[in-house]
Amino acid sequence: MVEGPQLVLSRTGVGLRELERIGRDFSRALRPGDLVYLYGPLGAGKTVFVRAIARALDVTDPVRSPSFTLANIYSGRLTVRHLDLYRLDQIGEDDALALEEYVDGEAVTLVEWPEAGVGRLGEADWTVSIGHESLKKRVLEIVAGTEEAWLRWKETFGDD
Ligand SMILES: Nc1ncnc2c1ncn2[C@@H]1O[C@H](COP(=O)(O)OP(=O)(O)OP(=O)(O)O)[C@@H](O)[C@H]1O
Ligand SMILES: [Mg+2]
Repeated sequence: MVEGPQLVLSRTGVGLRELERIGRDFSRALRPGDLVYLYGPLGAGKTVFVRAIARALDVTDPVRSPSFTLANIYSGRLTVRHLDLYRLDQIGEDDALALEEYVDGEAVTLVEWPEAGVGRLGEADWTVSIGHESLKKRVLEIVAGTEEAWLRWKETFGDD
């Protein structure tokens, strides 16, 4: 029994290929209905990480930041919803999408720049934070937001 969010992975010195590999591995722990928040500054690698997850889930469509539409939907082995809320502040409430509708039991929902949507989207099952360490290296943390997600991580990857 655990309480609250659990840090499940913490890495430094993560190169581009390694970030992609971690995204691919992480996809194995994902299930329909999962909500994943991706934090990190411009150019951190959030879209790179989303693309690696989507590819691993057999998405063949190009994966790019959905800057103008707020959301892209891809089909693979699971349905993947890719949101980027960077511009949400600039979009009037009247025009704002019903964000809630982007999370459902059938899709994995991956949200870049979640800050503007947290209140409306709810608690994440997973939080991924990527930071710059140098030009080519990143720091990465993955947090399981629920006990269920944490147990699933342990089942998928073991205790180490
Ligand atoms: N170790 C690394 N991990 C991730 N990206 C890297 C790394 N080294 C270099 N890069 C480059 O950094 C860029 C990351 O871009 P990406 O679009 O994924 O960032 P982002 O976090 O989605 O930014 P934005 O907030 O603008 O959407 C890519 O051009 C990628 O090739
Ligand atoms: Mg991006």
